[in-house]
Amino acid sequence: MAQVLCQLPQNDDPNLLSRDIPCADAGIYQITPELVLLQSIDFFTPVVDDPYLFGAIAASNALSDVYAMGGKPITAMNMVGFPNCLDIDILTQILCGSTNKVHEAGATVVGGHSIEDEEPKFGLAITGTAHPDRMITTLGCQPGDLLVLTKPLGTGLLTTSLKAKVLNEQQIDVALKGMERLNRYASEAMLKVGVSACTDITGFGLIGHALEMADASQVRLTIHGDSLPDYPHAIDMAENGLVPEGRFRNHRHYIPRVSGEEGQQQHVIDLLCDPQTSGGLLISVPAQRLDQLLNALQEAGDQAFIIGEVDHGPAGTMQLI
Ligand code: CO
Repeated sequence: MAQVLCQLPQNDDPNLLSRDIPCADAGIYQITPELVLLQSIDFFTPVVDDPYLFGAIAASNALSDVYAMGGKPITAMNMVGFPNCLDIDILTQILCGSTNKVHEAGATVVGGHSIEDEEPKFGLAITGTAHPDRMITTLGCQPGDLLVLTKPLGTGLLTTSLKAKVLNEQQIDVALKGMERLNRYASEAMLKVGVSACTDITGFGLIGHALEMADASQVRLTIHGDSLPDYPHAIDMAENGLVPEGRFRNHRHYIPRVSGEEGQQQHVIDLLCDPQTSGGLLISVPAQRLDQLLNALQEAGDQAFIIGEVDHGPAGTMQLI
């Protein structure tokens, strides 16, 4: 995608703030000195069989970029691809799941667009707002910061196993609840405490999104292989070779900027590279605010895993220990 984007005509609109923020989670467009719009879009084919749950997960996933930036989602637009041979009740269920999640976010569905498609696809375009001085971006990780992840890893492994019918939805219930959970509460917790930087973990996996933050902040991230949290059954699936294609793409693309791979167990590398659907926030927090953040996340009902720290090593790289 980067190869395509760099060939497009450049936009010199001074209100497009995201142009100066490498790997920003959302487009950032300044409206007034006190207000920026945050815009983000995502859609995909079903990750679960239950259409209501698929809609809820798709909405949580699409809303996540605005939350990673400490923004407040205000509107959502549906994007639907749907085969005319399928029962229209399935689409109703997808949209119900999604709309309830958008309402939980305090946002409003303002419309959408649908096309006929061979395979169902669903996602949303989200618009949020933030104060330009209070938004959180991929810039700002400081050496000495701790790295906190708010959801376990392994959704790519588990949804691949679900498609292969090796696991059923009951067996991956914990991961489904995790994917469905809004990053809203974790985002409000980090805003209250004040953190250095944040991004959310989605398709590029922990490896890709962490490296983007390292690159934007011009720091190295040290990740402790044995502290990566995993959803139940994810490691079993990795060990049985039920690994999604995206894991290999992420590995190929990002591993040149990672040192210490050889000292890690295979399942750590699988978790690190596993593409996530509606993953957690990766928060860089100053050491003196770590306890405050952990308390705030716990009060919010979220998990918090300390997976590493920020250091002075080569900018834009990751060290595994
Ligand atoms: Co993101």
